[in-house]
Amino acid sequence: MKLLVTGGAGFIGTNFIRHMITKHPNWKVINVDKLTYAGNLENLAGLKGCSNYRFVKGDIADNSVMEALFRKGIDVVVNFAAESHVDRSIQDAGPFINTNIAGTFVLLQLARQYGIQKHIQVSTDEVYGSLQGKNKFTEDSSLGPNNPYSASKASADLLCRSYYKTYNLPVIITRCSNNYGPYQFPEKLIPLVITNTLENESIPVYGDGLNVRDWIYVADHCRALEAVIQGGQPGEVYNIGANNELSNLELVKQILELLNKPEELIKFVSDRPGHDRRYAIGWTKIKDSLGWRPAYSFRDGLEQTIKWYIEHPGWWRRIRSGEYKDYYRKWYKGVRN
Ligand code: NAD
Ligand code: TYD
Repeated sequence: MKLLVTGGAGFIGTNFIRHMITKHPNWKVINVDKLTYAGNLENLAGLKGCSNYRFVKGDIADNSVMEALFRKGIDVVVNFAAESHVDRSIQDAGPFINTNIAGTFVLLQLARQYGIQKHIQVSTDEVYGSLQGKNKFTEDSSLGPNNPYSASKASADLLCRSYYKTYNLPVIITRCSNNYGPYQFPEKLIPLVITNTLENESIPVYGDGLNVRDWIYVADHCRALEAVIQGGQPGEVYNIGANNELSNLELVKQILELLNKPEELIKFVSDRPGHDRRYAIGWTKIKDSLGWRPAYSFRDGLEQTIKWYIEHPGWWRRIRSGEYKDYYRKWYKGVRN
């Protein structure tokens, strides 16, 4: 089995590759990543010299780079590569259109041309938009993205669907809820709160802090993708979740409590434009059809995550003191106050 993993130097891709290399030593993993601000080869340094792992620096939207990889034969594509941060998409949607939509198009075209067993499109519950009432998203919920990030992911999903319907390309779409865990870039809520708290810096909470997200530990997402590679049916959509709905404020308070820090660190700042109020994902289909279920409780996952950030200060301090520092300053000092 030869896997082409795109965006493998990012948060979920890193966790996925580490999982797959250990679990399937006979599978070959090729990781193609453009190494944007979010990609970090240090995450995978331990795999250097592994005979079943290879890294290629490249842009999924660059047909010639990608064709050279497909020409040698690929069995399964797992497409993680994306611009992934909603706030950045609000500032500049351009890279989201190029990578998330045009990049997916390149992969689908090459898959058609060279043939593959499966293309797994790693999508998000954010394509469904914002929930009202107590219901959850199902695979049949209508798409209603509200920001440029989720709109670009929904566009890619529709392109994938069309390649299955029109060309019978074996495409599978997964839609997972918000991930957290080791190696997550500290612009996303959980690592931002952990690292700000460890540095005794204020924690920016958007709006009234009552927006709800549904959280899953990244290792559980990786196991779900493994189950989809092995048993998922072409043309299907699988929602992935873990029943952990929390308001942002409740979440921030849990982290402060675990780190024994005062709630006075919380600072309410102006709301995100187009801020989705609630996500909640129903995942009965993947449980019933593939036998997958999450293994981590939210509390266990959160404790593991906090422990990882405490034990790896060099990893996040390098990010926070680099180019990201300017972005962060501009965003929180200029826009969000
Ligand atoms: P991330 O931002 O941490 O990593 C993205 C990776 O893609 C980086 O390594 C980056 O260098 C690479 N990349 C960006 N543009 C590229 C391009 N043009 N060509 C090749 N590589 C490129 O993101 P993540 O949180 O690991 O998310 C991975 C995927 O999972 C995304 O598709 C995202 O939409 C999806 N997803 C994320 C979450 C979440 O909570 N993080 C939830 C559901 C789905
Ligand atoms: P985020 O981690 O950016 O994920 P997403 O927007 O894809 O769900 O944000 C999670 C929630 O936290 C979202 O409701 C926005 C909110 N948030 C804050 O309140 N403050 C912050 O500094 C950030 C980054 C997010």
